[in-house]
Amino acid sequence: MCGIIGYIGNKKAKPILINGLLRLEYRGYDSAGIATIEKDGIKIIKEKGRISNLASIDEINNLEGTIGIGHTRWATHGKPSAINSHPHSDNSKTFAVVHNGIIENYNKLRKFLQEKNYTFLSDTDTEVIPNLIHYYYKEGNNFLESVKLACDDLKGSFALEILCNDYPDNMIVVRQDSPLVIGRSLNENYISSDIPAILSFTKDFFFLNDREFALLSRDSIDFYDNNLNKIDKIVKSIEWNTSSAEKDGYDDFMLKEIYEQPNAIRETIGSKLSENKIFFNDFEIEKNYLENISRIYIIACGTAMNAGLATKATFEKFCKIPTEVEIASEFRYKEPLIDEHTLCIFISQSGETADTIAALKLSKAKNAKTIAVANVIGSSITREADFCIYTHAGPEIAVASTKAYTSQVVLLNILALYFAELLQKVPTKEINQVKKEILELPKKAEITLRNVAEVKNFANVVYKETDMFFLGRGLDYYTACEGSLKLKEISYIHSESYAAGELKHGPIALIENGVTVIGIITNPNLVEKTISNMQEVITRGAKTLVITNQKVNESQFFKVINIPNTNPYLSPVLSIIPLQLLAYYISKEKGLDVDKPRNLAKSVTVE
Ligand code: F6R
Repeated sequence: MCGIIGYIGNKKAKPILINGLLRLEYRGYDSAGIATIEKDGIKIIKEKGRISNLASIDEINNLEGTIGIGHTRWATHGKPSAINSHPHSDNSKTFAVVHNGIIENYNKLRKFLQEKNYTFLSDTDTEVIPNLIHYYYKEGNNFLESVKLACDDLKGSFALEILCNDYPDNMIVVRQDSPLVIGRSLNENYISSDIPAILSFTKDFFFLNDREFALLSRDSIDFYDNNLNKIDKIVKSIEWNTSSAEKDGYDDFMLKEIYEQPNAIRETIGSKLSENKIFFNDFEIEKNYLENISRIYIIACGTAMNAGLATKATFEKFCKIPTEVEIASEFRYKEPLIDEHTLCIFISQSGETADTIAALKLSKAKNAKTIAVANVIGSSITREADFCIYTHAGPEIAVASTKAYTSQVVLLNILALYFAELLQKVPTKEINQVKKEILELPKKAEITLRNVAEVKNFANVVYKETDMFFLGRGLDYYTACEGSLKLKEISYIHSESYAAGELKHGPIALIENGVTVIGIITNPNLVEKTISNMQEVITRGAKTLVITNQKVNESQFFKVINIPNTNPYLSPVLSIIPLQLLAYYISKEKGLDVDKPRNLAKSVTVE
């Protein structure tokens, strides 16, 4: 939530900042602003609305400075407006600050500063920060010391970039529970909330831990710990290619990412799985440990949580370990029963989701072993967990997650089978059958994508509807949940997902003539059961779409989309693809912004 960008070098900062903000716009898009240091001091320009509004302000073209910071906002405190946009400055206009996160004690700090005669222009939590820095600065502390002292007073989460009029050749950045990366290049440095936004400038990155400070100049970066002792940091080279962060001829990132799934799955399988063996390098989980755990928790939010639901059964069937899937925002406040015999697995594409990170910290504090399943290299969650395994989906830019979801489902299945091989509680032959099918998934995902024309036609028929229902049993129910989430978030059509057998216990009252009901039918043992439930809605006038890899009598449904067959535990990887395409084409038919749906942000770094 919120994107921050920064540049210090010898080029004009403004175009770099605007370009970076456009790439970060998926993180929030209700207002934006930049600040540069000009010959006569810091200049701030900000505007309500999208980055394009900011970029079209005439005055912005006068900015010549070669050091600057920028921000695209997802409002938390204070409605979207120019005055509430970042950067914010202190009363004396000595400092300019952009902030991603939430300052929880801002009311108290604001009161403290008001008592010292500071005044406030905005309703934001952020405005206390530049004023607090100024408060310490005028007491005689230098730039870095003042920032550190101000940070000591802040409670909550923050990634900050700070400019000071008196230090025209420096910028300071610091983070606590919010994302921030530093990209190093020759005689210039870049700051960003994520790697893809600055990937075209550099592949060399530094990652800050909580409460570490970086003092940047054009040709150097000095790192400090929270006591302002100098520390060394190792640069990490990122292998993602630049074109994966571009649209590559597709209309939208979401469509491109849907089509990237065969490759994302292939890359995620990578060298981890061959027909004979599963490898997890640097992974110290042993048979003895697994034999002594009483429970696995899979914890995540949104689509990542749906990926957990879609794989829980593999852990239970092949490892015989009870496995619970929990919503991170609930789990963290629940006093869960965790101890050293609990294994907690956290799934997060961004690796920055505040609730997931908080749940991870709680689990560690209760002595559980923790594994992060992340897509973004070096993200916060990967540094917090005992072990980290990566999906290799490449940068996911569209707010609605697609290729990260299918890659997560694949990786978690591989992990479950890896444990199963260690535990040997089910015949090796059974494990090998699933492994073999996993290797077939990239090809089968390609085949599934060939249904696009049929999905597009169906989207054309139903895009004006106001309600839709998704039904499934077993793993198909979890696919229904994910399909329904995709639809509502990008098409704004109200939709519900139900375990098909639950329909009769209430929701069937909502079914009336013409309403669309989508059934997912992939489990050979449950085909007839789900078909019966679909019949019940057909009787009440529903228009039905069925996604299946089983033999069904197609004439009874409005439309059937056939997908390739696979092992039932893997079917969520394929059955979700037509539903992603359906949500996409409905959103397109409605003329909506597919990649940046309203009220949402890609990375939910606040709780
Ligand atoms: C929906 C979607 C969200 C995310 C959720 C968790 O399409 O993308 O529901 O899955 O916000 O995000 P990560 O995986 O970054 O922790």
